[in-house]
Amino acid sequence: MSRRILIAGNWKMHGLRSDLGFFDALAVHAGKSNAEVLVCPPSTLLSAAAERCAGTAIRLGGQDCHTGATGAHTGDVAAVMLHDAGARYVILGHSERRSDHAESSSLVCAKAGAALSAGLTPIVCVGETREQREAGEAFDIVAAQLGGSLPAATGSGIVIAYEPVWAIGTGLTASASDVARMHAFIRTRLPEPATTRVLYGGSVKPGNAAELMALDDVDGALVGGASLDIDAFASIIATAG
Ligand code: PGA
Repeated sequence: MSRRILIAGNWKMHGLRSDLGFFDALAVHAGKSNAEVLVCPPSTLLSAAAERCAGTAIRLGGQDCHTGATGAHTGDVAAVMLHDAGARYVILGHSERRSDHAESSSLVCAKAGAALSAGLTPIVCVGETREQREAGEAFDIVAAQLGGSLPAATGSGIVIAYEPVWAIGTGLTASASDVARMHAFIRTRLPEPATTRVLYGGSVKPGNAAELMALDDVDGALVGGASLDIDAFASIIATAG
């Protein structure tokens, strides 16, 4: 069963309207790539990015959503609002949200349910800290996060991103053999293992992307820092052929 490679850029809290020209350059690379190309900009840019990307192969996503569709939740954004603004994906349970906002797996699960109801594909992030890896707990932690974060009737309409916390923004990446082992393990825990895409994230750069993307159970990348640089992001996309 072939799974289309997904190269996703996570812009985090970066990006202003003056950066929208990025999408014009990206459209050229996305148009000739076999990979699906996704950018998750801050929600303030989604509508303008959607206008800019109309007619291109670029897909857009949010970086978080609320569990509800509407209501008195100052500062929050509903999944249906992201969809309305042009998003088709949403990153959920990123380690920065799990740590900065104390998000639990059960909250991530409720958000994923809201995203699916709104017609968004959730990209659910899991990954162990350095202490957990050194204590030999990486597989247990990832299993618990997967078990708690995925809604029961998920099917294959969901994407998983394995992002070891210690590799995010640090320039450190897990070794190819560690990634291969963890991705194979994650696949055994999925309701639809043959069709669900499992991305790797954590300091993916032009220099390591090809090796990571060549692994059997790696179906793409969630790219932070390097997705802000068009040349770096384009060369990561190019590794997908
Ligand atoms: P990084 O971020 O590529 O800058 O390590 C990845 C992520 O946090 O999704």
